[in-house]
Amino acid sequence: MDGVEEAIARAAQLFSAASAVVCLTGAGVSAESGVPTFRDAQTGLWSRFDVEELATPQGFERDPGLVWRWYMWRLQQLGAAAPNHGHAALADLAGLCGDFLLVTQNVDDLHEQAGSADVLHLHGTLSNYRCAACAAPHQLTIEERRADSPPACGLCGEPVRPDVVWFGENLPWDAVEEAVAAAQDCDVMLVVGTSGLVYPASQLPLVAKQAGAAVIDVNPEPGPISTIADIFLQGRSGELLPALARAVAGRRVNH
Ligand code: OAD
Repeated sequence: MDGVEEAIARAAQLFSAASAVVCLTGAGVSAESGVPTFRDAQTGLWSRFDVEELATPQGFERDPGLVWRWYMWRLQQLGAAAPNHGHAALADLAGLCGDFLLVTQNVDDLHEQAGSADVLHLHGTLSNYRCAACAAPHQLTIEERRADSPPACGLCGEPVRPDVVWFGENLPWDAVEEAVAAAQDCDVMLVVGTSGLVYPASQLPLVAKQAGAAVIDVNPEPGPISTIADIFLQGRSGELLPALARAVAGRRVNH
């Protein structure tokens, strides 16, 4: 067995022995679907766009049209993206484990499209919209998607915004609470495709580790999560996660 194969076999062993697994995903899991990450050099969104202008409430107040057009561009990009083998493998893994909670920082719905149920979205989703002032939900029309500026809320007339978490904003409290409780209670924390730089999601692997869980990190690059991980599966999630799911399924057949 080479190093990766051996690491996958060890990871599969941990999965087989676990009664509760939490998986935390970031932008990297969708990279092989053609969805850009945020911090990868050259290709990451934050290397090409200004986070202050596009992903803060102050940026939206200053120039709602600019923010609107950027999110409508991303929504269009997502419309053309399909789940990859990594998303599919996570849906398979859920069926092979006892309790399996999928927590994502991603605003796409590629996990759901791949068949994962009950996905906890810590940063909201790009398919939901709400009034920036009164928070009333808003259903986008095709014309609004193509417009240069956000529609007005039907109730109060203020601009509508994507229902995603911007920098400086609180995460949905229920989702954070559920994710932290699950991290404290799990036997295995599988972390996939995140730089581990954005609080509070970045703390979940640490919470799990401190509570005694094994941490497995899947990422082509080492980072803050791989340094605390018990197993670092270095490579692309679209390749490594299917191999992991096969190894876990194989152990079930053989035991
Ligand atoms: P980042 O862009 O910070 O990190 C993406 C990670 O994915 C990096 O560690 C890459 O090495 C890794 N990666 C790239 N290709 C991969 C592949 N094929 N398989 C596996 N991993 C791969 O994205 P996040 O960590 O998700 O927040 O960023 C966290 C948050 O910062 C996002 O949710 C977003 C952003 O600003 C908000 O919008 C609130």
